[in-house]
Amino acid sequence: RTKRQAISAEPTALDPSQLTHITLTNYSKSEESRELIQRALLENDFMKHLDHGQILTIVDCMHPTRVARGCCVIQEGDDGSLVYVLEEGKVEVTKAGTKLCTMDPGKVFGELAVLYNCTRTATVTALTDIKLWAIDRQGFQTIMMRTGLIKQSLYLELLRSVPSFQSLPEDVLSKVADVLEETHYSESEYIIRQGATGDTFFIISQGQVRVTRQKSTSEEPEFLTTLTRGEWFGEQALKGEDVRTASVTALGRVTCLVVDRESFMHLTGGLDDVNSKPYESDDIKAKLEAESVFFSCLS
Ligand code: CMP
Repeated sequence: RTKRQAISAEPTALDPSQLTHITLTNYSKSEESRELIQRALLENDFMKHLDHGQILTIVDCMHPTRVARGCCVIQEGDDGSLVYVLEEGKVEVTKAGTKLCTMDPGKVFGELAVLYNCTRTATVTALTDIKLWAIDRQGFQTIMMRTGLIKQSLYLELLRSVPSFQSLPEDVLSKVADVLEETHYSESEYIIRQGATGDTFFIISQGQVRVTRQKSTSEEPEFLTTLTRGEWFGEQALKGEDVRTASVTALGRVTCLVVDRESFMHLTGGLDDVNSKPYESDDIKAKLEAESVFFSCLS
């Protein structure tokens, strides 16, 4: 046992308190690959109950790897550190020399040893050259355990970084963190459309967004700014404004934390300075005037 521990490169179970500080690495992949991985995870009995955000984070963090025909991907009895999704080719699963099954693209394997901290329960061999996506134990466990309290503490950290929220007492911030909902967007997706009604406020938890405003229906949208993690938008809604004053679209993949006006007002009693963002400070009046011209054009 001592020898095994000494030679194992694998981290054992993680201390949950470390999980907020582990940086997860994203690997770029095509939309087809993303969908294949997501479907594979949702079809796997041990993974399908993960929440949507966790599934998307696993998809983001999986890295590509290839194994040649005839090679062993997983050896029964070994310590295992990777969970795989098969993208191309075929594998065979055997246990004590007996064939259990073959697997085609779109299947997860190698999850048991990582989920249950046990040795590999079967051998997996490549029947053809295969292409795989893989995630290591540390990344996987980090994502699995970033639920409940850990998520709450991450949200709280993010809320504290929003300047307008810094004046709110800790217990109020904590209640706001409880009601935040995670939403996910893909490249170019509209998060907010100018002119639409809405009563939600967004804080960017991952990625970047682009803010544009159209002075009139006949003009091209004017670029206002890009916003990134820790910045927010949709704040007019928290101040009682129902009609969106600008459009916000995702630049790449974006995760936002969302709260609606009723919950926010109920918990905080409102904020005085929530609309004093830097990009609005000097020209807010001119923009709001331009906006009322825009809306009068629409009516
Ligand atoms: P793990 O034990 O980490 O490594 C071997 C993998 O083979 C295991 O995870 C499962 O993904 C897969 N496996 C084990 N038993 C079976 C089975 N009876 N049918 C299909 N796949 C299996």
